[in-house]
Amino acid sequence: MTRHFLDIHQLDAADLRAILDDAHARKAARKGWPQGRADADAPGKDRVLAMIFEKNSTRTRFSFDAAIRQLGGASIIATASDMQLGRGEPVEDTARVLSRMVDAVMIRANRHEDVERFARVSTVPVINGLTDRSHPCQILADLQTIEEHCGPIAGKTVAWVGDGNNVCHSFMHAAPKFGFHLNVACPAEYHPDLRDLEKGGAAVTLTSDPREAVKGADVVVTDTWVSMGDQDYEARLAAFEPYTVDEALMELADPNAVFLHCLPAHRGEEVTDAVIDGPRSLVWDEAENRIHAQKAVLAWCFAG
Ligand code: CP
Ligand code: NVA
Repeated sequence: MTRHFLDIHQLDAADLRAILDDAHARKAARKGWPQGRADADAPGKDRVLAMIFEKNSTRTRFSFDAAIRQLGGASIIATASDMQLGRGEPVEDTARVLSRMVDAVMIRANRHEDVERFARVSTVPVINGLTDRSHPCQILADLQTIEEHCGPIAGKTVAWVGDGNNVCHSFMHAAPKFGFHLNVACPAEYHPDLRDLEKGGAAVTLTSDPREAVKGADVVVTDTWVSMGDQDYEARLAAFEPYTVDEALMELADPNAVFLHCLPAHRGEEVTDAVIDGPRSLVWDEAENRIHAQKAVLAWCFAG
């Protein structure tokens, strides 16, 4: 069976744990190496990864490109607007064609359904590189970062503060799979999708009070208030104003609590300079870990 990586809730907990363990091991094994050198086992040797972007990206684009090279493979990158996809060629036809030309496809798409449609037809692994609905690769990097600094994620409390968006959804999917608790604080009008909330089950608590969510938490996470594709900028800024992660909010968390943000950040909106540039912030490790976590995802896909 072709192994797709579309959403965390679709994978077995044991597979997810193995992917995260592999991410830790791969990072440790190449400490101090130049970025372009391949890992000793090179599980992507002779493999080509295609990347399709319908939206902007810095981290996802560079980390996947670095990742496939470090696995011993190569990449082909295109924006959807450069492809016939951008002129209306069906997603399914694109999937059929690329399946004959590459060994895996990563897609960053406007509509989650398009990634699912692609995967239904693709005979090579398809990886979700962010959609309007979820961002599973980001959460693996986040969990790797948490474990590096705080020990095993199981049993920890993570507080999500802000928009109930794609990144929040993937955190909710991950909570029951990795055995942590997630407190989500969102304004009522920007709560997560209830279908995704359901996937989190008893591992997720929803509130509109950021202070309640953060109290005693081991990790505090936020993201932009205005995601790519969101149109209601002014309404969002007004609704999210009480949700800025500042030092006063961080004080309510566990004394050893760390701060995460998938980036890009909007200093002065969802997070203050003092927090994101302060001693509890792990955002640069988090960004780097996109490479290591995605290498583990690619290796898992290739092993299928
Ligand atoms: N965090 C993240 O996915 O960043 P990019 O949008 O730069 O890829
Ligand atoms: N929620 C953000 C994440 C960017 C990495 C967005 O979708 O724009």
